[in-house]
Amino acid sequence: MKNILVTGGAGYIGSHICVELLNQGYGAIVMDNLCNSSKKALARVEEITGKRVKFYEADIREKSAFDEIFTSNDIYGVIHMAGLKAVGESVKEPLAYFDNNIGGTIVLLEAMKKRRVKRMIFSSSATVYDLGGEECLKETSPLGNSTSPYGRTKSVIEQMLTDIYASDNVWSIVMLRYFNPIGAHKSGLIGENPKGIPNNLMPYITQVAVGKRERVNVFGGDYNTPDGTCVRDYIHVMDLADGHIKAIRKFEETGLFVYNLGTGCPQSVLEVIHAFERANDLQIQYAIAPRRAGDAAKYYANADKAGEELGWKATRSIEDMCRDSWNWQSKNPDGY
Ligand code: NAD
Ligand code: UFG
Repeated sequence: MKNILVTGGAGYIGSHICVELLNQGYGAIVMDNLCNSSKKALARVEEITGKRVKFYEADIREKSAFDEIFTSNDIYGVIHMAGLKAVGESVKEPLAYFDNNIGGTIVLLEAMKKRRVKRMIFSSSATVYDLGGEECLKETSPLGNSTSPYGRTKSVIEQMLTDIYASDNVWSIVMLRYFNPIGAHKSGLIGENPKGIPNNLMPYITQVAVGKRERVNVFGGDYNTPDGTCVRDYIHVMDLADGHIKAIRKFEETGLFVYNLGTGCPQSVLEVIHAFERANDLQIQYAIAPRRAGDAAKYYANADKAGEELGWKATRSIEDMCRDSWNWQSKNPDGY
């Protein structure tokens, strides 16, 4: 059996990836310091799949933790998801983001090099693009000056991975640029579980639906978009997980690969709110609020390359995403 080490595997996206890894016959070994997640997510992954996840509660910045993990397990490749991801917090605490995301990735890469495990999938983001330029982003679209320290960590790590491959082309490195992941596993057993006030749109909507928040503040109603609200490319987290499984096949080749993972379907904030209402037969209170600093008006993915080279395509609709997000939240009003 091929074992995949998933850093950050107890988190929102990581737990969904573990489900797909186990369902597809891979071994899932998770390393997570639980700074933004719960061990219960992994128990739920085991409940869904009927298979075991091997868990190491450890920080990717801890060199010694990798000695044990790589010595005790035969690791085929790594899906590297561990990192801090709150854009606003990164503006206030840039050093914490550089240390955790960039510093942690260096420690991980050194451990992988030492053990000659030279296969990695990296969780990158659409934030690496110049988001004030083209609206439909291809992998070849201009990269930008990220608008936050968080975004900068993703750009720097992509550059580090590019340099590592140039220095030693035995590596197989796949950089996946996620657009806006939402939704949850259809069982409602795992899902997004933000601490405190949600920064992102979908968990905010579900918390309004469950009665924890009064209304959604729609950040800006005067953008140059059809209804004046910002437009993004929302992708179901299970489609994203499937993209990782397809990307693992690239581990059979050496190379540096980059793919957008999005649906290619642009949706405005108001369209998402209305899709949520339709999918769940609920009413969501909302009000137009001032713009949020740093938001681009509109961007979405051209995901053709992942289709052509990985045979991957997102299949779930915005209604599926809204229904599954609500299924998770309504069954787990207080998270894990
Ligand atoms: P998440 O916070 O739920 O998951 C990240 C996990 O990493 C958490 O379980 C956290 O405890 C763990 N972690 C953080 N620092 C660690 C460290 N030093 N050592 C060990 N574990 C550590 O976030 P997510 O939404 O699941 O995101 C996963 C990855 O995908 C992140 O790298 C994120 O930047 C990236 N990404 C997310 C989005 C999104 O919208 N959710 C978009 C683009 C990219
Ligand atoms: N929004 C609201 N109200 C809210 C929350 C969000 O109107 O309470 C709006 C935002 O202004 C934006 C849209 O909903 O127009 C989506 O916002 P999110 O915060 O859910 O997502 P972003 O597109 O801002 O950010 C995402 C990821 C980041 C990544 C960024 C760029 O969360 O990790 O895309 O790719 F950096």
